[in-house]
Amino acid sequence: MSENDKLDLASPDLVNENFEKLSELFPNCVTESAEGKAIDFDLLKQELSHAVVEGNKERYRLEWPGKKEAIVTANLPTTKTLRPVREDSVDFDNTENLYIEGDNLEVLKLLQESYLGKIKMIYIDPPYNTGKDFVYKDNFSRDSQEELLESGQKNEYNQRLVANPETSGRYHSDWLSMMYPRLRLARNLLSDDGVVFISINNIEIHNARKICDEIFSENNFFECITWNKRVPKNDKGIGNIHEFVLIYVKNSELEHSFIMPKDGLEEIFDMAKKFKSKGIDITEAELELKKFYKKRGFDRGITLYNSIDHNYKIWGKINMSWPNANTFGPRYDVLHPKTKKPVKVPDRGWRWKESTFNEALDYENVVELPDGSFRCGTIWFAKDENTQPSSIKYLEDVSDMLLRSIVSLKSDGGIETEKLFANKSIFSYPKPTSLLRRLVESIKMENGIVLDFFSGSASTADALLQYNSESLKRNKYIMVQLPEDLDENLKDADNNTKQTIQNSIDFLDSLGKPHLITELGKERIRRAAKKIKEETGADIDYGFRVYRLDESNMEDVYYMPQEYTQDKLDLFADNVKSGRTSDDLLAQVMLDWGLPLSLKIEQVNINGKKLFKVAENSLYACFDDDIDEAFAKAIAEEQPLRIVFKDSGFKDDTAKTNVKQLLKQLSPETEMKVI
Ligand SMILES: C[S@@+](CC[C@H](N)C(=O)[O-])C[C@H]1O[C@@H](n2cnc3c(N)ncnc32)[C@H](O)[C@@H]1O
Repeated sequence: MSENDKLDLASPDLVNENFEKLSELFPNCVTESAEGKAIDFDLLKQELSHAVVEGNKERYRLEWPGKKEAIVTANLPTTKTLRPVREDSVDFDNTENLYIEGDNLEVLKLLQESYLGKIKMIYIDPPYNTGKDFVYKDNFSRDSQEELLESGQKNEYNQRLVANPETSGRYHSDWLSMMYPRLRLARNLLSDDGVVFISINNIEIHNARKICDEIFSENNFFECITWNKRVPKNDKGIGNIHEFVLIYVKNSELEHSFIMPKDGLEEIFDMAKKFKSKGIDITEAELELKKFYKKRGFDRGITLYNSIDHNYKIWGKINMSWPNANTFGPRYDVLHPKTKKPVKVPDRGWRWKESTFNEALDYENVVELPDGSFRCGTIWFAKDENTQPSSIKYLEDVSDMLLRSIVSLKSDGGIETEKLFANKSIFSYPKPTSLLRRLVESIKMENGIVLDFFSGSASTADALLQYNSESLKRNKYIMVQLPEDLDENLKDADNNTKQTIQNSIDFLDSLGKPHLITELGKERIRRAAKKIKEETGADIDYGFRVYRLDESNMEDVYYMPQEYTQDKLDLFADNVKSGRTSDDLLAQVMLDWGLPLSLKIEQVNINGKKLFKVAENSLYACFDDDIDEAFAKAIAEEQPLRIVFKDSGFKDDTAKTNVKQLLKQLSPETEMKVI
């Protein structure tokens, strides 16, 4: 007897059936509540009434069960810290790039002081909530940690990843609760001229826009870019070929413009060179050029440039009418260079003021063009005064145009990473660096920091290195990534991704590394950096410092002095947890003092003790024992701005008092702290 033939002796769940029936009749009344899917009875009442039903106050806003908790989550302080991992880093002491392993919520909290208002660009590519994603749960009580560990929802790397299938009654709410606090914290890090780009697809685009409108303000919404991926996904009876990139600016009162290089310029210039070398007649060359534009389907940013001068340089005619439909430009006479009669003034007036126009004209220098029109300075005139003149612009001078709101770039991030990893598919759906470069280029990043706190395969770091190597700009990156356990992922993976995850595991085994996604991210950067260096030889920063999120370096008692009892007093003898190194303490001090983790760190030996010098004399730190007056004197000579010691590191209490006094006398600008 098969399963299907068995008599179902259980009575039907009528509540569920009723729910389904109502959902079918009134889909607008289905909502998500703290307990899962629910019916909004106020709305249902309204559906059944001819008059407006009194009930909850109506408001225009996005609500979901867990929103208040998400706000609390964003505001709760963290007791965690970041520990440097020198052995995984590349050029630790000198690099300004960071790779941080850990839950981005905690990491963003830790970066609040050091990077407040310092990030020029944030790019994120969060889980799209496809129904197959795991969503990170923030709101869980401490008591349930053990339980989660046992049930396998939390692993030893402190992950709390929970599947979020479409059927979950809190499908959208859980995603929103995960995103909301992270975006809130991220906003604080943006500089005043900062920009945030968020990759998303149509599953959560509406919710993403709503929370971003709330967090960044609707006024700071800039554009929703459609990314045409060129290759459709045909699994739903329609060829889905696009995703979105939301753009928000920190402050819309500042002027922002997003640019992109004009596509196909090299080919066009090559063509003009050929015309010249063959001595092709200009009129014929112009016809050929127009045909080429048509064939390639260029947009107006290029096709406008369809004239060729005697040197075979390509130029275009820019309209001189006042551009704004609601206002009017100045009106004045402009004389035709040949007929000497005033030309037709545009209906809405001129685009330029008279003095600017006069500067562009050069009546001493008039050239007749092959079609009988004229150029006079940098102004083009038709045969006679009956046609409005235009200003002349060369294509080579306007190689950039405003970023288009539809970006067509092949979705070949997978192939790109395969090339880096010996032709093995190691990541699922990484973003192509071409897309990320387009975004970085669009804001002309220069000496800025790019933060990606859902960094996955670290494609953003790769893209930034490529951009830096070509433009020789000194931008830095901060990648944040959860150390997702690939063995866990393999258990839950569908057939499409199983092979990719298995490849990653095999690859990490060959390197003798743990099965964590962060190992892949770091390796990707190492390989991409090597490739870029070999190909370009550019003198840029190829290194990165690795930090790992961990519990505080301090014994818990350090944070709860009110709770200690006499028998715990010995903890004060040294409040640093065992196993923590001076590198660990330095990172914590830098974060606490609000210093960027990317500052240059130098290690020197003074009086037999290890001294860290951060950014020259911005911060000195010594966590060795037996600190005494002689050491203080040696340091004071260098006049550091800040100095930090271990509380238990002084030779004795007198030494502690004397060191303080000595520093005050010899280097009054120095601020001293102990941990
Ligand atoms: C869509 S992928 C990003 C892909 C990436 N842009 C690329 O090109 O490879 C999202 C990543 O965010 C990571 N992630 C999810 N929740 C996170 C959290 N709470 N903290 C840090 N990373 C997280 C996931 O592990 C996943 O690798």
